[in-house]
Amino acid sequence: MARAADLPESSPVTVQVDSRQIALFKTGGDVFAMDNACPHKGAPLGQGTVEGGKIFCPMHGWEFDIRTGICADRPDRPAKCIPVRVVDGQVQIQL
Ligand code: FES
Repeated sequence: MARAADLPESSPVTVQVDSRQIALFKTGGDVFAMDNACPHKGAPLGQGTVEGGKIFCPMHGWEFDIRTGICADRPDRPAKCIPVRVVDGQVQIQL
């Protein structure tokens, strides 16, 4: 779906897989994926701001850990993380 080397460290990339929108992040050289819909009101996390391994929702600013999906604002409302692996430089996700 994407080449890991092409993903920027500082901003997410959104891809479509079948009918799902997936936000891809690269932080510390590792690649992570989340459902593109914020668990609060569904805003696209792939359009959020990345800072220090966190993604900030573009709508209300909730903060999510890119690696775990844990929400600092509402721990009971984590983002949905999706397993990722990189094979021969290609990002693969497990849906
Ligand atoms: S929709 Fe993401 S914080 Fe409100």
